[in-house]
Amino acid sequence: MARTGLPAVRWIDRSHGPAYIARMAIREIIVLPDKQLRLVSKPIEKVSSDIRKLADDMLETMYDAPGIGLAAIQIAEPLRLVTMDISKREKDEDGESKPHPRVFINPEIVAASEELSVYEEGCLSIPEYYEEVERPARVRVRYLDLDGKTHEEDAEGLFATCIQHEIDHLNGVLFVDYLSKLKRDRVMKKFTKAARLAAK
Ligand code: NI
Repeated sequence: MARTGLPAVRWIDRSHGPAYIARMAIREIIVLPDKQLRLVSKPIEKVSSDIRKLADDMLETMYDAPGIGLAAIQIAEPLRLVTMDISKREKDEDGESKPHPRVFINPEIVAASEELSVYEEGCLSIPEYYEEVERPARVRVRYLDLDGKTHEEDAEGLFATCIQHEIDHLNGVLFVDYLSKLKRDRVMKKFTKAARLAAK
């Protein structure tokens, strides 16, 4: 998910030192109308070192964008892997932002509230486009961590919205799918035209 209504902040965690940075890579984020965004991503069977490397690259790519959530398919990897950081970026006494990177492997919604909430959403694969979307206000999410351990966690507020948005990506669903056909057609047309111009 793109961060909405806030200025772009370039923000990379360097607390782990140069070696950590050196092995991470910023990957290209695919955008509309790339058809890969409609793929259904595959479950991760084993949390291998390749998966951990992919998660690192996704975090680096997400912070660089900058965004608050990223699904693997957005860097053309059709695997059920999501990274997120919705921390408010409060400054500590040294004036440094404290990151709170999170990784969700094979995340799924196992319960959702009837109550709905509306958030203005954006997406790194649909740059500079924001619209309000209504979703369940609270969800329970089940996922594996980087050690392959299963967790269940209740999410509300921005966390609930963001995890639903990212899990949608794993199923080939984009936030524009929740908009009216008129609005969706308009945004699809805009990005299709932009891609055509860029190809010339
Ligand atoms: Ni998105």
